[in-house]
Amino acid sequence: MATAVEIMKSMRFTKIIFALAFLFNRATVMAQSPVLPVGDLEKVTIGEQDIVFKTTNAYGKVMVYSPSIIRVRLDKQELGRDFSYAVVGGVKKTTTNIIQDSQTVTIKTDSLRVIVTKQPYSVAFYTPDGQLISEDEKGLTTSWTGQTVTTYKKMQDGEHFIGLGEKTGNLDRKGNGYTNWNSDTYAYSISQDPIYSTIPFYIGIHHNLNYGIFLDNTYQSDFNFGASNNRFSSFGARGGEMNYYFIYHKRAADIITSYTYLTGRMPLPPLWSLGYQQNRYSYYPEAEVMRIAHTLRENHIPADGITLDIHYMDRYQLFTWNKERFPNPAGMNAELQKLGFRTTVIVDPGIKVEKGAPAYEDGLSKDVYIKYPDGQPYTGEVWPGWCNFPDFTSIRGRDWWHKQVDFFARSGVSGIWNDMNEFSTWGQKAPDNILFNYDGKPTTHLEAHNVFGLEMVRSSYEGAREHLKERPFILSRSGYAGLQRYSAIWTGDNRAEDSHMLQGVRLMTSLGLSGVSFSGMDVGGFTGTPSTALYTKWITLGAFIPYFRNHSASDSRPSEPWTFGKDVLQVAQNYISLRYKLMPYLYSAFYESTQNGLPVMRSLAIDYTFDPRIMWADFQNQYQFGDAFLIAPFESNKDFGKVYLPEGTWYDLYTGTKEAGKQEKIIPLSNDKLPVFVKGGSIIPMQSLVQSTAEQPTDTLAVHIYNGDTSNSFTYYEDDGKSFDYQNGEFYKRSITFNPKKRSVIFTAAEGKRASHFNHIILILHGFDRATGFRLGSSRVQLSDRQFNYIGGGETPGCQVKSVTIKNDSGTIQLNY
Ligand code: GLC
Repeated sequence: MATAVEIMKSMRFTKIIFALAFLFNRATVMAQSPVLPVGDLEKVTIGEQDIVFKTTNAYGKVMVYSPSIIRVRLDKQELGRDFSYAVVGGVKKTTTNIIQDSQTVTIKTDSLRVIVTKQPYSVAFYTPDGQLISEDEKGLTTSWTGQTVTTYKKMQDGEHFIGLGEKTGNLDRKGNGYTNWNSDTYAYSISQDPIYSTIPFYIGIHHNLNYGIFLDNTYQSDFNFGASNNRFSSFGARGGEMNYYFIYHKRAADIITSYTYLTGRMPLPPLWSLGYQQNRYSYYPEAEVMRIAHTLRENHIPADGITLDIHYMDRYQLFTWNKERFPNPAGMNAELQKLGFRTTVIVDPGIKVEKGAPAYEDGLSKDVYIKYPDGQPYTGEVWPGWCNFPDFTSIRGRDWWHKQVDFFARSGVSGIWNDMNEFSTWGQKAPDNILFNYDGKPTTHLEAHNVFGLEMVRSSYEGAREHLKERPFILSRSGYAGLQRYSAIWTGDNRAEDSHMLQGVRLMTSLGLSGVSFSGMDVGGFTGTPSTALYTKWITLGAFIPYFRNHSASDSRPSEPWTFGKDVLQVAQNYISLRYKLMPYLYSAFYESTQNGLPVMRSLAIDYTFDPRIMWADFQNQYQFGDAFLIAPFESNKDFGKVYLPEGTWYDLYTGTKEAGKQEKIIPLSNDKLPVFVKGGSIIPMQSLVQSTAEQPTDTLAVHIYNGDTSNSFTYYEDDGKSFDYQNGEFYKRSITFNPKKRSVIFTAAEGKRASHFNHIILILHGFDRATGFRLGSSRVQLSDRQFNYIGGGETPGCQVKSVTIKNDSGTIQLNY
């Protein structure tokens, strides 16, 4: 009989044999595998804020970008040029502690602990107190399948995913996979993927933790959030480096702020672009444009913009006007401006190949067009016929376009709407082998496709900024991460269907999670004809989206607000008027977004990230508009709807009825009233009704304060709304703080060189039933009781409020109650 010692020895021997067999097996599988893993770390060089390493099959770098941002680069070859169309924020000097032992390298900042395991390479991110935020799937880590590189992250228990820009589907992306390849998707379905733009940035959420990942690679990229697998989430691209940024903060809002630190923020748009925009494919001739403008004014529909679609051009040729339809464009645009309208015109990237046509010939002589490898220009068919396309990834191409934009400035145009810039051609399959400059590193369509739209709007923005000599408005259909630096975006050719209205909301809130604040959808639907009910509902919702345009296709019935009858006109008037009265609030929300990247239209996942109910299909269409309003959109054919009011106190906008938070509530619905709630503690500055932002409101600013349990601050901002003078201090800014514990409302002293337009402030207090002993500084003030209605014309009695008018002093104003 074997002794115990002998048995133990033989067991140990068996274990060793098994281990060797496993390793041998792994090595053979890997040697034969068509999938190339990163392999083991062989050589590590430690720098001040980074580690550079070589592995069995790759080269890599893990870099501390800021205390909360870590960048990871991996390639099969030595890391190449460090270049990005998206990233504009540089590395921040960060106190970093890096130590290594035989198994790992640990990188520590104040906000993160990163552990790189050596055998095989894998990376894990922890909070400073050791909670796991995200880690590579240990067996899969990062690998190449042909030229496609993919990083696999372990799927955490209960993990959810949000963001990824303009993607259809649910707010929670768990269980789905997505592709980024900018595509012209006319009348897309509500589950179609991809559509027009690419923003490879998402936020993962689990165990009360959240993090962001931005894959900066412009090839076609693919994301898998547990689609057909329960093991990992992954992201990868069909070429180029694995190059991603990992961002960790406690709050989702700060993750967006860091993401927009990297990819830039929206510049302040011109005020007129926040007004109502009337579009149609297409308004022509001039008499029709003027008829639309006058009819808006006659019907008291406040409006700021009229947009001209492709028929303003001569046979769709860029940088031309059709002289029969528009004999005097500059005259017409000046006339429109007198009426308080700004003109936006559409541009497409295709330049018609036509001998003698000035723009075409000029582009040819300046050698700006995309070419095949044999030197022939690439020709694709779009609206004007066969076209060449400027290479916007070359400085030469961008400069050329930039100069062409002067054509619009000379015609008195204020906005440039960049369409078809995915880029789109009939047939939709531009060849792989066309060549792009890619800012000095020539490449093919495969790498340049997804940034074509971004670089087009960059050229339009920079050109318009120079030639218009005021803030331009730029709109785009396509783009890549960072597009917010130049342009607003709208969600393309949607359909006049309820599901599209709601899908549009999710596309915009997802864009907002991904750094893009200024977004819109075709209100009323582009293709098809909305029912009267749907149109009515959609126009009420439009008042609460960042870019508010009504647009419809050439083969659909007219859809100006007066075309659906008197009742609808009244509803449109009510809601568009409300938007104009909210302009001080809205402009301040846009200003805030230029500072911290937080969107104007906010998924509830930003402020209530860890409340699981906000992701439920029933509630995923709810969003915040700025900080104060919670909007609950529903289909137009429903009589009742279920809303979820998250933590806090809420008020019904129309009646002022107070509701407790953390509750689901069934509410009656009608298409002439959009369900809107106001968060307790909110501060909402409003003005008198104007018919366009060119018109001055009265000199009294109405500041609504909603009572609540927690204190809140609002940054109030004014400037001239059109020039860049604000960059030289020509603005008026102050914060307004409501503090229920101290029973105070404080306006801090105003900053900036500008005086406020408003000489008086009327404070309108909601929910302050017992606001007795109200004092302004040391003087007692008498409050008056009154009714207040946000919307005219309804049967609701309105809200019971208290109010008082005070002088708008630029020094500190302190109120106590
Ligand atoms: C595209 C645009 C649409 C526009 C049409 C004609 O379909 O998405 O908004 O009206 O082209 O230019």
